[in-house]
Amino acid sequence: MTDARTHPNGRARELGVGMIGYSFMGAAHSQAWRTAGHFFDLPLSPRMTVLCGRNRDAASAAALRLGWDSVEADWRNVIERDDVGLIDICTPSNSHAEMAIAALEAGRHVLCEKPLANTVDEALAMTRAAEAATARGVHSMVGFTYRRVPAIALARQLVLEGAIGDIRHVRAQYLQDWITDPGFPLVWRLQKEHAGSGALGDIGAHIVDLTQFITGQHVTSVTALLETFIKERPLAGEASGLQGTASTETGQVTVDDAALWLARLSGGAVATYEATRFATGRKNAIRIEINGSNGSLAFDFEAMNELFLYDGTDEARIAGFRRILVTEPGHPYVDAWWPPGHLLGYEHGFTHQVVDLVTAIGAGDAPVPSFADGLQVQQVLAAVETSAHHGSWEKVPDSETAVGA
Ligand SMILES: NC(=O)c1ccc[n+]([C@@H]2O[C@H](COP(=O)([O-])OP(=O)(O)OC[C@H]3O[C@@H](n4cnc5c(N)ncnc54)[C@H](O)[C@@H]3O)[C@@H](O)[C@H]2O)c1
Repeated sequence: MTDARTHPNGRARELGVGMIGYSFMGAAHSQAWRTAGHFFDLPLSPRMTVLCGRNRDAASAAALRLGWDSVEADWRNVIERDDVGLIDICTPSNSHAEMAIAALEAGRHVLCEKPLANTVDEALAMTRAAEAATARGVHSMVGFTYRRVPAIALARQLVLEGAIGDIRHVRAQYLQDWITDPGFPLVWRLQKEHAGSGALGDIGAHIVDLTQFITGQHVTSVTALLETFIKERPLAGEASGLQGTASTETGQVTVDDAALWLARLSGGAVATYEATRFATGRKNAIRIEINGSNGSLAFDFEAMNELFLYDGTDEARIAGFRRILVTEPGHPYVDAWWPPGHLLGYEHGFTHQVVDLVTAIGAGDAPVPSFADGLQVQQVLAAVETSAHHGSWEKVPDSETAVGA
C-alpha cells in the first residue's frame, strides 16, 4: 500500500480517509475519525482527507463543520485520489456494492455501513471483491457498530468464558417508533429500491449480528412474518437520517414496518427476533436477553452502560440479576476513557469501530466483521423475507459455500 505516509512528527504514518455521505452516519463516523487517535494508540494516524457529497456547496459546509480537509462531488474522484488509503461508505445501502467494489479494486481499504448491501447477490459480489483484495493486503469491514459497545463486548466475553453455560434461548428486539405517525414522509428507508427492506435490514440486521457475536452461534433457519402498517405516505421533501419533511403528494411504502421471526442457531439455541419502527415510546431499544444452562445476560441499549448478569449458581436466598456498570478499568474499550461511572454514549461505538479497524490494518490483519460476515447476515435477512412470503421455515445457506460457489 502507498496510502500511509510518514507523519511529519515522526509518529504513526498517516492513513488518508475519504468518506462518502455526511448526514447521520457521516456525522457519527466523522466524530470517530476525529477522536480515535486522541484516546487510543493507533498504528496509523487517520487523516480526514476528503469528504464526498453530490452538492459541492453543502458538502463544503459539512466538511468545515465535521473537520474534513477537502471536498469532492463525485465519489469516483475520491477513490482515485492518491492521498486516500481508506474509503468510508456512509450512503444508503443501494450504493454500497458499486462504491465498495470500485474502492477495493483501486487498492483502497473500505469501511462500509450496514446492511452490507440490498441483496444477497450484491453482498456476494462485494465479498468476492473483498477476498481478492485481502490477498493484496487491502482490507474491509462492515459497520455493525453496536458490537463495540463495551457492555455488548463484555457479554460476549462472559458467554465465551462459560459464565452462563450452554445457551438455550436468545431473545432479541430492536424497537424504534420514529414512523408511527402516518404523516411521516416517504424517506429512502421506506423505499425498497433504496433500502432493500425496512425494519428488517435497517435494524433487524443489527440484532442478527449482535446475537451471533455474543453467542458465537449463527442463525441456521428461520420462520418469519413481515408487516407494513402504513402503506402510503406523503412524499419526502428534505430528508436526512431518521428525519424528513412531508410534501402534499403521496407514494407507496414498499418495505416492511415490522419484522418478527423465530430462529434456530448453530449451537442448539432457539431464538426470537423482533425489529419494528412502531414500538410507540421505544426510541432505540436494542434488547437482548440470553438464557443459558447456568445463568442469563440482559442488555438494553437505552441503558447502554449496563449489563445484567444472573448467576444460576448463586445461593437462592441472594440470587438475582446483578447490574454491572460497564465502566470499570479492564472492561472492553473502557481503559481509554473516563473514571468508573463516567458514562459512555452512542458515539463511542463508532470510535471503537475506527480503533479496531485501524489497529487491524496496521497489524496487517483482516478486520471483523468482514464482508463475508455481512453476506451471512444478508442471507439471514433474505431467508426471513422468503419465509414471510411463503409462510415456510427457511434454511440459511452456509456463506462459505455461497462465496466459493
Ligand atoms: N451502524 C449504524 O448503527 C447505522 C445507523 C444508521 C444508519 N446506518 C447505515 O448507514 C448508511 C447511511 O444511513 P444514514 O442514516 O447516514 O443516511 P442519511 O440519509 O442520513 O445520509 C445518507 C448520505 O448519503 C449521501 N449520498 C447518497 N447517495 C450518494 C452518492 N451517490 N454520492 C455521495 N453521497 C451520497 C446523502 O447525500 C447523505 O449525505 C445506511 O446504509 C444505513 O443503513 C448505520
